Amino acid sequence: MIYFDNAATSYPKPEALYQEIGSRMKRYGANPGRSGHEFGLRTNRAIYETREALNQTFSGDNPLHFVFTANATESINLVILGLLKDGDHVIATETEHNSVLRPLELAKSRGISVSLVSVDEQGRVNPGKIEAEICAQTKLVVCTHASNVTGAIQPIEEIAAITEAHGVFFLVDAAQSAGILPINLSKAKIDFLAITGHKSLYGPQGIGALYVREPMSLPVIKTGGTGSRSSDLNQPDVMPDRFESGTLNTPGVLGLQMGLDFVRLQGREKLFAQEYALTQVLMKELNRIPGIKIYGPPIGEPRVPVVSFNLGDLDSAEVSYILDDEFGIITRGGLHCAPLIHRRLGTSQQGAVRVSLGAFSTKQEIEAFLEAIRAIQKMM
Ligand SMILES: Cc1ncc(COP(=O)(O)O)c(C=O)c1O
Repeated sequence: MIYFDNAATSYPKPEALYQEIGSRMKRYGANPGRSGHEFGLRTNRAIYETREALNQTFSGDNPLHFVFTANATESINLVILGLLKDGDHVIATETEHNSVLRPLELAKSRGISVSLVSVDEQGRVNPGKIEAEICAQTKLVVCTHASNVTGAIQPIEEIAAITEAHGVFFLVDAAQSAGILPINLSKAKIDFLAITGHKSLYGPQGIGALYVREPMSLPVIKTGGTGSRSSDLNQPDVMPDRFESGTLNTPGVLGLQMGLDFVRLQGREKLFAQEYALTQVLMKELNRIPGIKIYGPPIGEPRVPVVSFNLGDLDSAEVSYILDDEFGIITRGGLHCAPLIHRRLGTSQQGAVRVSLGAFSTKQEIEAFLEAIRAIQKMM
């Protein structure tokens, strides 16, 4: 099997994760933060070390400002539905994933107005367009860092400078960028960073995080047991308890720590350089095949290792199916949970075949994929 669906979830994970997760679950098997016994304290320490690793990875100001969630989607919901109230205005872009667009749609039904800024043909956002939409009611700007359809990278530092100047909160959806692109919370005033553990951070599924710069600025929408201040019926304000109710996904946190270790030891920059180089080979060779249309930034321009394309008028789901069924190559066809960018690209009907590379992708796999596409093209 050749696995080119890393934008959906990275596979394989680092070998250490498969080898060690069971023994770590035995060693750190208590409910963290619920009891004073040594077993619980030890588990809690392991959880804290993962917060520290996140804080280090993203140059944060405090490990306790990283809250564990199930995924980027939950992190985004906590911000959009917690922060915005009737009468508020929020700005996002048409390249957002449904994990942003759907909470925004729900927000609309609660009296919040939403502006969606258009992107250029390559899927890139012009920060000036975001600034132009800011008005007195604007409370939040949301922007995906890297598109899961076009691979385009958005200038989040520039956008952060704009939101900071206007006193507006900034939420970055880092689902496709955490672990592969630089994100520096001490350089850019990102108020909320939504992270998922199972893509370029190489952790298991079901674990994510939300960075919250000013915890008291975000009202809570989820309350419950935290193991702290148990006599108080109100949610504690202390971090991370303010946003972490109910028992944590401890195996997920332990796995995420191994994923973070893997990225640190390999080197994020090295991983990016390796995957970018393969992406460029892929794009150059695909371009030589008659009938191929590639979406997103052109060859030589920055992008994450995601390449969406179509082969003539062929249905993208059909091409993806043939790749899987006849060649054992896993890609994703159809729409990619981001309907507005498909509208912009003119692919709402056809969808697009998406190839997404990861740390373990190889040149040989790219060559086998190109052979398969050439064979499919001849069948057309
Ligand atoms: C850009 C983007 N945002 C958000 C998400 C949601 O991630 P998760 O399903 O891990 O919550 C995805 C997942 O593919 C994504 O590509």
